[in-house]
Amino acid sequence: MSNLYPRPQLAADLARKLLRTKSLDTQLLRGLFLPGPSRTGKTSFLLYDLMPALQKLGALVIYVDLLAQPNISPYHVACNAIRKTLKPHSPSGILDQFLRAIGIRDLKFNFNPETIGKNGGIALVEALMAIIDQSQTDVVLIVDDVQLTMTSDEEPLLLHELKEARDAINLRPETPGSFVFIGTGSPPALVNELRGRNNHAFYGATSLPYPVLGEDYVEFLLTSLEREGYSPLPNLEVATGVFKTLEHRPEAILKAFQQLLLHSAPYVNPNKAFPLIADDLRSPAAAMI
Ligand SMILES: Nc1ncnc2c1ncn2[C@@H]1O[C@H](COP(=O)(O)OP(=O)(O)O)[C@@H](O)[C@H]1O
Ligand SMILES: [Mg+2]
Repeated sequence: MSNLYPRPQLAADLARKLLRTKSLDTQLLRGLFLPGPSRTGKTSFLLYDLMPALQKLGALVIYVDLLAQPNISPYHVACNAIRKTLKPHSPSGILDQFLRAIGIRDLKFNFNPETIGKNGGIALVEALMAIIDQSQTDVVLIVDDVQLTMTSDEEPLLLHELKEARDAINLRPETPGSFVFIGTGSPPALVNELRGRNNHAFYGATSLPYPVLGEDYVEFLLTSLEREGYSPLPNLEVATGVFKTLEHRPEAILKAFQQLLLHSAPYVNPNKAFPLIADDLRSPAAAMI
C-alpha cells in the first residue's frame, strides 16, 4: 500500500493564508516557521502536500534541503536550489509543465541563473527580486531543517540574505509578487529560537507548530490494514492513543503494528496488547536498538 496519508485541505488552507494574505495574516509575510519533532512527517508534508498547494495558487516554490548537503554552506545550498528550480528539466516533467503554465519557461531572465550566488554572478537577493519582477509571480522559498543554519559557520548569511530579500520585495509600495519564507525543522525549541531572539534575522516572524498527524491518519492506517486482511486490529481509540504515546511518528506506529500482527499470538486481545507494545517500543532499552 502507499502509506502516505495526504492532507490536501490542511495544505490548501495554509497556502491560501500565505499567498492570499488577508489583513489579519499580513504578519505571515514576515516569515513562517513550522517547528516540529523529528520523524513526524514535516518533510513529507512540505513536499507532497504544501508544495503542490502553493503551486496550485501559481507560486514558484523553491525547496532547500539543508540536511541533504551538510558539507555545503546553507547560502550555497539555497542558491543551488534556485538554479535547479529554474533549469529546464524534462519537458514532460511536472515542474516544467508548471513553469510553462506560469510563463517562466518562456522568460529570458535578465541575468544568468547559472551564476546565482557565484563570484561575479548575481546575489541571492537580486536573483529573488528579479524572478518576482520578471515572472510577476509569488516566490515561496522553503528551508527544510532550518536549524542547520545555526550550526554552520555561515549561520547569519542565508537567513540574513533572505530577510533582506523579504524586506526589499514585500515592503515596496507595489510589488508584482510576494516573497514568502517558510522554515521547518527540529527540535522545536531550537527552530523557535530563530524567530524568538532579537539578534536573529527573522526575529518577530510567525511560528506555528507543525500540525502532526492524528486520528484521521490512524483511521486511514487501520482501514488499509483491514483491507489487506490483517487481524486482530485494535479499535480506533486504542490505536490513536498508541500513536500519541509514540509521539505521532508514523514509523513507530508501523513498527508497533508489525509487532502486533506478525509477532504476537493470534488469540491476543489487540486493545490490551497494542498499548503494551507501544510502551515497550518507547522504553530506553528499545530506543537503543
Ligand atoms: N502523511 C504521512 N502518511 C504516512 N506516513 C508518513 C506521512 N508523513 C510522513 N510519513 C512517514 O514518516 C517518516 C518520517 O517522515 P519525514 O517527512 O521524513 O519526517 P520529518 O521531516 O518530520 O523528520 C517517513 O518514513 C515517512 O514516510
Ligand atoms: Mg525532515
